[in-house]
Amino acid sequence: MEEPNQEHDDIDAAVAVKSPAGEQMVTTSQHHFDDGDNSFSVTIIENMKEEYGLFVWPCSIMLAEYVWQQRSRFSGINVIELGAGTSLPGIVAAKVGADVTLTDDFNRPEVLANMRRECDLNNVNCKVLGLTWGVWDEAIFTLCPNIILGADVLYETSAFDDLFATVTFLLQNSPSSVFITAYHNRSGHHLIEFLMFKWGLKCVKLIDGFSIMPVDKASGLSGNIQLAEIILDDDKLS
Ligand SMILES: C[S@@+](CC[C@H](N)C(=O)[O-])C[C@H]1O[C@@H](n2cnc3c(N)ncnc32)[C@H](O)[C@@H]1O
Repeated sequence: MEEPNQEHDDIDAAVAVKSPAGEQMVTTSQHHFDDGDNSFSVTIIENMKEEYGLFVWPCSIMLAEYVWQQRSRFSGINVIELGAGTSLPGIVAAKVGADVTLTDDFNRPEVLANMRRECDLNNVNCKVLGLTWGVWDEAIFTLCPNIILGADVLYETSAFDDLFATVTFLLQNSPSSVFITAYHNRSGHHLIEFLMFKWGLKCVKLIDGFSIMPVDKASGLSGNIQLAEIILDDDKLS
């Protein structure tokens, strides 16, 4: 997997904390959203010594921007973010009026604790839930999301089936719901197309992530990132 990009322009107010060994461990990044009439900033806590769940990955920045640009869709609806990590898209969804549940691997309590701190820091009232893909804990049966978000959750092929199993379950639980994901397209869409077919899903929108990014936010990002909207394929249900 590619290294997280620590140089994106929207990290403009970093606060560093040093470990006893003098290494930088914890930092915050500020992410701005502004349409001229309305604006807000989201503060994200990142831990440079941790893996995966405690960085803001480029997919997360793109998905958060997509949520902001599509904000009229998010007002008053139920949103779940899967593999949320530092949770930027979910927090933006909450800022624009969605009722948000942030989730990550049940076995990563440090990631879940970081999410709670971020909700406090950003004055949003999201639920935080340990939800491991492919695991059917009681809590998942109560979730009825209108929109499921997932940033950079398609990165380890061995986990794809578990992720798609969870996504399919959630889509079936909430009619007309949609999974919106941003992912690195490293080896073409064949595997994702195969998995959508296997799980009875279809892609209704596929765009280049950079096509929606303002120049100032795109300049520090790299990679071939796609944004996809995926729904249940009704033709396969009948
Ligand atoms: C590459 S990180 C992306 C984090 C965040 N969405 C972002 O884009 O900044 C992948 C995330 O998926 C979570 N994850 C990995 N395997 C998981 C699983 N089996 N169930 C639930 N979450 C998982 C990790 O803890 C991590 O937060």
